[in-house]
Amino acid sequence: MNFHALATPAEGLGGLVADALVVVLPADGKPQTGDKPLDAAIAAATKGGDFELKSGRTLYLHGVPGVKAARVVLAVARDGSAKAFRAAVGTGLAALKNRAVKHLAVRLVGAADATHAEALTLAVDQAGYVYTHTKPSAETVAMPSKVSLVVDKDALVAAKHGLAQGQAVAAGVAMARECANRPANHCTPTWLGEEAKRLGKEFGLQVQVLDRKACEKLGMGSFLSVSRGSEEPLRFIVMQYHGAAKKDAPLVLVGKGITFDTGGISLKPAADMDEMKFDMGGAASVLGTMRAVAELKPKVNLVGIIPTCENMPSGLATKPGDVVTSMSGQTIEILNTDAEGRLILCDALTYAERFKPAAVVDIATLTGACVVALGHHHAGLFSPDDSLAGDLLAASRSADDPCWRMPLDDEYDEGLKSNFADMANVGSRAGGAITAAKFLQRFTKAYPWAHLDVAGVANRSGAAKGGTGRPVGLLTHFVLSRAARKA
Ligand code: BES
Ligand code: MN
Ligand code: ZN
Repeated sequence: MNFHALATPAEGLGGLVADALVVVLPADGKPQTGDKPLDAAIAAATKGGDFELKSGRTLYLHGVPGVKAARVVLAVARDGSAKAFRAAVGTGLAALKNRAVKHLAVRLVGAADATHAEALTLAVDQAGYVYTHTKPSAETVAMPSKVSLVVDKDALVAAKHGLAQGQAVAAGVAMARECANRPANHCTPTWLGEEAKRLGKEFGLQVQVLDRKACEKLGMGSFLSVSRGSEEPLRFIVMQYHGAAKKDAPLVLVGKGITFDTGGISLKPAADMDEMKFDMGGAASVLGTMRAVAELKPKVNLVGIIPTCENMPSGLATKPGDVVTSMSGQTIEILNTDAEGRLILCDALTYAERFKPAAVVDIATLTGACVVALGHHHAGLFSPDDSLAGDLLAASRSADDPCWRMPLDDEYDEGLKSNFADMANVGSRAGGAITAAKFLQRFTKAYPWAHLDVAGVANRSGAAKGGTGRPVGLLTHFVLSRAARKA
């Protein structure tokens, strides 16, 4: 699909040559586009009771006299924001579903900037996605080959910039979503390693994939303990993007890559356990972000680290009460084998020290408690570093990929005390998302660190079951903002 920015034709929107025109009208504005023939059609539809300037409404019009585009869809957005625009484009596209549209033009009535352009690419990409890897019979959605964003002349440069950035983010989101959707017997640690290598070849990233032996040499006793019960070999993936001088301290992203979480010996109940194939959502977001960044080539160094394995019960599996030694040297009493995410992340966080990072952000579908606390809208953001937390919050806003800051007071660490090791891997149930973050914090003293608990946002359940590709948008915006600050 090709995205273009077009200036509104001198004769008005009606003069625009396209197969379909989606006009987004903000609900807090007027039901007018400034184009006479279009406005006459809107007035007539409104008068006839077919259209109202209310958020979420759409109207399909065919063959409007004086309008060159044969199909016109009016879509009402809540307001003029990029977020509302993205939603309205989604409903507008739904109204055009399976119509023969090769060239789609989209116009926001009011001022459009780069954020609207980026929102357009994400909306279009999402509308066109159908999972087919293990369901080749799935009905695909016919998508336009060309999409034009129609803006005022003075907004052309910003629109072009936003479209380029949006396409890279959308491709990253798509990659993360697809990885997450593939079942655990397809998306194995081995496959994730191969996928990282493929990405490396395509985009010129340096990629290393370590196996169990290499991880043993590094002393990753905690990571290894999670994989013990599984027949599927583990992988430790390290990807590097070099966009700045060698001596420039890199940003490091660490993604939880549990390709299936049964809970291990602390076995999970059967209901909805299939959704634990999504427990590699953090890893998927690291892959997707590496892809987006490698495409946009900002002047920054970036490392992606993915510890990946299955969490299975077996005669070899780690048992509650077992004590393991992490790569940091700290010992951990594993009281609950279902709190495995922190066990693979802690060794990856120690491994990250060798890069002398400017900042480390880990991304993990870490706790059900975070879903209870924040639901499926905001990811949980944990960081003792106000400036890093501020940057991530700003990125989450600009990317329309929300997260919410959570506390990290030392009182929450007390539950991790153990009689038999430096720490236990679980505390009490109360504040479970925070205790998990406190556990991770014990391994992050060497650099500024933040943790994103994406358990509630990386995938959806029910009829819309599937990966969301979040938080690739947030992470990409964060990396780009760091690069822009230095430039
Ligand atoms: N992968 C789960 C967290 C999770 C739960 C993600 C629900 C998405 C939806 C994680 O490994 C886990 O099992 N966490 C436990 C921790 C507990 C044993 C302290 C949990 O949240 O119950
Ligand atoms: Mn678990
Ligand atoms: Zn898990």
